Amino acid sequence: MPTFILILLFILTVLSFFSSKKQKRKPKQKAKLPPGSMGWPYIGETLPFYSQDPNDFFAEKQKRYGEIFKTHVLGCPCVMLASPEAARFVLASHAHLFKPTYPKSKEKMIGPSALFFHQGDYHTDLRKLVQSSLSPEVIRKLIPDIEAVAISTLESWASDQVINTFHEMKKFAFEVGILFVFGHLDRKYREELKENYCTVDKGYNSFPSNLPGTAYNKAIMARKRLARVISEIICDRKEKRLLGKDLLGHLLNFKDKRGQALAEDQIADNIIGVLFAAQDTTASVLTWIVKYLHDDQKLLEAVKVNIPWKF
Ligand code: HEM
Repeated sequence: MPTFILILLFILTVLSFFSSKKQKRKPKQKAKLPPGSMGWPYIGETLPFYSQDPNDFFAEKQKRYGEIFKTHVLGCPCVMLASPEAARFVLASHAHLFKPTYPKSKEKMIGPSALFFHQGDYHTDLRKLVQSSLSPEVIRKLIPDIEAVAISTLESWASDQVINTFHEMKKFAFEVGILFVFGHLDRKYREELKENYCTVDKGYNSFPSNLPGTAYNKAIMARKRLARVISEIICDRKEKRLLGKDLLGHLLNFKDKRGQALAEDQIADNIIGVLFAAQDTTASVLTWIVKYLHDDQKLLEAVKVNIPWKF
């Protein structure tokens, strides 16, 4: 998902939250909103958003209204941010004014128990759990496996065909994500996860109509299959009494303050949530790294000198 859309879905200035705060202080003063259009009642601008490439929809708005504009899509009044300064304002300097929310259709696709849809103890516990399963020691142990994935990815590019760097980086990031979540996993499970996750990814940003045959409906069905695959993996682990030190192992071992373990759907929602959070973000960064290394040969040489690998 392009960073721009990520910013929209992840944080976007939940207008009601922001304006209700303002209105409490000065009851008669209406919140000043940025330029833009809210479209029709209820559906807002969801139809124009989907009748063209969403990137073109945003580009046209940006040209017309500037880097900060309002709109209404997928049942949510939003303020769209398209500049690094605005993103910094929301994510860093004024983060306390904002609360992450997602449109309901997206929440359903990822899984309502995923940590980023929650606040309070559940959110704090799971956030700590995810962070601790990705500690430098864990990453250090995974390096040989990550290197093997990197080499096999590079080998798959060896023929002369043209590749799309971002798509290839997404595949790479997904393989590494699977390693982080499940450690070494049977090929059968890996393939099933990959195929179904890919269908979910394709339908994630599509129009949320659950009619048979639509991309959204296919994604919802694939999401159900993903939960089944994860349930089989959990069953397998429990039978073999192998809980593991990967993210799944941490989730299976987790108990909250009251000694309550996580239910299987909470585990599945958080696994899919983490794969989702990790994939496009990492793939974008890797794509930019490839671009800048390609554009700056001196930098590329310096990187080669500092990494003791054979090139
Ligand atoms: C360069 C890569 C990445 C970027 C740019 C990125 C960016 C972000 C941003 C902007 C947020 C929202 C922060 C907030 O609400 O305060 C976030 C949250 C999150 N990210 Fe990442 N991320 C990256 C990689 C990853 C990876 C590799 C993982 C998983 C292993 C991950 C897991 C998460 C999770 C679980 C959350 C939700 C945290 C919460 O709700 O407290 N991210 N990420």
